[in-house]
Amino acid sequence: QMNEKESMFLVSEYAKKYFSKIMLNSDEGQAIGLSYFKERGFTMQTIEKFSLGYSPDSWDAFTNDALGKGYQLEFLEKTGLTIVKEDKKFDRFKGRVMFPIQSMSGRVLGFGGRILTNDKKAAKYLNSPESDIYHKSKVLYGIFHAKQSIAKLDNCYLVEGYTDVIQMHQAGIENVVASSGTALTPDQIRLISRLTKNITVLFDGDAAGLRASIRGIDLILEAGMNVRVCTFPDGDDPDSFAKKTPHDELLKYFEDNATDFIRFKASLLMQDAKNDPIKKADLIRDMVSSISKIPDNIQREVYIQETARIMDISEDVLFSTLANIGKKEL
Ligand code: CTP
Ligand code: MN
Ligand code: MN
Ligand code: MN
Ligand code: MN
Repeated sequence: QMNEKESMFLVSEYAKKYFSKIMLNSDEGQAIGLSYFKERGFTMQTIEKFSLGYSPDSWDAFTNDALGKGYQLEFLEKTGLTIVKEDKKFDRFKGRVMFPIQSMSGRVLGFGGRILTNDKKAAKYLNSPESDIYHKSKVLYGIFHAKQSIAKLDNCYLVEGYTDVIQMHQAGIENVVASSGTALTPDQIRLISRLTKNITVLFDGDAAGLRASIRGIDLILEAGMNVRVCTFPDGDDPDSFAKKTPHDELLKYFEDNATDFIRFKASLLMQDAKNDPIKKADLIRDMVSSISKIPDNIQREVYIQETARIMDISEDVLFSTLANIGKKEL
């Protein structure tokens, strides 16, 4: 007797194949799904590599097809592929282009589905619900296709979205995963740290998001990883930037612009504080709090020195603030 999770994996694998087949072989799939991806600049090779697909704009086309093939409603519902309401069955991803989300070993855990319009009222992406096989906080989009390259190059690029991962691959950079729009969780950090201790975070080029995202990075420091960050010109994200930048130039951009995280944060906060002494006091605490997360004490000391220089403040003040934070946490 097969267990439930196994049945959920099987129906998810089938869904991946179905969405792909519909997109590549049906008139509707080609006209709507395939042309959407082509317009975004994805090649056929890329589309096949990531098993991109299209879910027909019909209430229950996928569900009926899967039931006809012998997949059980129980598992269609448990994976969230089908929504059952008052005895009626609905395809969750109706009319969306599909991004299968795979585990480190390549199994399909869930899906992200994007609407085709830029309608601001509808959620742009719809994702599989939490289930026994899909835990949003434990997956990293792209990890299956990135793992070899991450280990080989001993670095992992972290981006926000599905299309960022895909476009980077197409530009010949494969050591890249996406957190799917949220701050990295400890489980996701563990996945990466099995492969490398070096992370380069690539931010979407909007200032608001940046200040929110840097909060989450303390967790990566806590894991003892080396974090560098890289920003893009305003309005660009890794997808749009990689699309218009040739491979060698892209690598050079990362080399020239990736900055050590602590250095980056100190400079960013200094811009915010300008000459306001109260703000400056706050940001000293903020900086020291980040530095206090670093497990290695030699590294901590080097960062204190560097931060003192950037913020034009004595090392003694920073060291005593660090000692105080240490006491509070004991
Ligand atoms: N996301 C989500 N639900 C949303 C919006 C975003 O799950 N309603 C996740 C997706 O994984 C998305 C990522 O957050 O890829 C980053 O969001 P965003 O930058 O808004 O989207 P992009 O990936 O840039 O998507 P696109 O280029 O298709 O607009
Ligand atoms: Mn579970
Ligand atoms: Mn974004
Ligand atoms: Mn984006
Ligand atoms: Mn984008």
